[in-house]
Amino acid sequence: MLEVRNLKKSFGDKKVLKGIDLKIDKGEVLGIIGPSGCGKSTLLRCINLLEEPTSGEIFYNEEKYDRSKNLSNYRREVGMVFQQFNLFPHLTVMENITLAPLKLGILTKDEAVKAAKRYLKKIDLLDKADFYPNELSGGQKQRVAICRTLIMNPKVILFDEPTSALDPEMIGEVTKLMRDIKDTDFNMTMIIVSHEMKFIKDFCSRVVFLDEGKVIEDGTPNQIFNHPKDEKLQKFLSKINTI
Ligand SMILES: Nc1ncnc2c1ncn2[C@@H]1O[C@H](COP(=O)(O)OP(=O)(O)O)[C@@H](O)[C@H]1O
Ligand SMILES: [Mg+2]
Repeated sequence: MLEVRNLKKSFGDKKVLKGIDLKIDKGEVLGIIGPSGCGKSTLLRCINLLEEPTSGEIFYNEEKYDRSKNLSNYRREVGMVFQQFNLFPHLTVMENITLAPLKLGILTKDEAVKAAKRYLKKIDLLDKADFYPNELSGGQKQRVAICRTLIMNPKVILFDEPTSALDPEMIGEVTKLMRDIKDTDFNMTMIIVSHEMKFIKDFCSRVVFLDEGKVIEDGTPNQIFNHPKDEKLQKFLSKINTI
């Protein structure tokens, strides 16, 4: 359903993505791993059309998309969750969650509030609806950010290191919500960038190893973690396993 073709992205002289080809099927849960600075966030930002690729193409359901075309339609289908949550600090939890569907005219105020309450109840934060983000813990903020994505009823969710900014004791509440999403909506396609190797190994149906802006290896979690072929991947894993 999602296809990236020969995607290249440079910032000035710096070549960050050097020709990425990826095909992701509906319902697939794809993990992206790789050393810091190898281009993982840039890839997700290009897929979400936050960043304009230098060259290459993004297809969604066989249709080509770029920033100049159907951006809001695409964003409805493809949601993104950020490491730093990106909640609006001046808006309450309720306002953060209902902002996009109201702005795009997808839901009426009543419908949006009702849906937001349903999500907040599900994550046990209904009593925080009128709180501001700075009154929440990191784990609570990230769960609110995920609800803000879910209310748009996306078909694909991109997660860019969703637990990296969290204290260890809060990681579980966010990964649990991600598991809930996967268990309730078997058709949800997810792409997750994370350094939580254990989570990626257990959670994903497929894993891609990126290095220096290229896909080096692509396989099942078992292939990638237990039988890595490429030397770069072997090195990357051995470093992680010794931490
Ligand atoms: N907006 C930008 N301007 C200039 N360089 C950037 C920008 N965004 C990312 N980079 C550079 O691109 C490289 C890859 O970054 P990033 O995609 O964030 O890597 P990762 O998420 O794998 O750690 C880094 O060297 C980073 O400094
Ligand atoms: Mg990153």
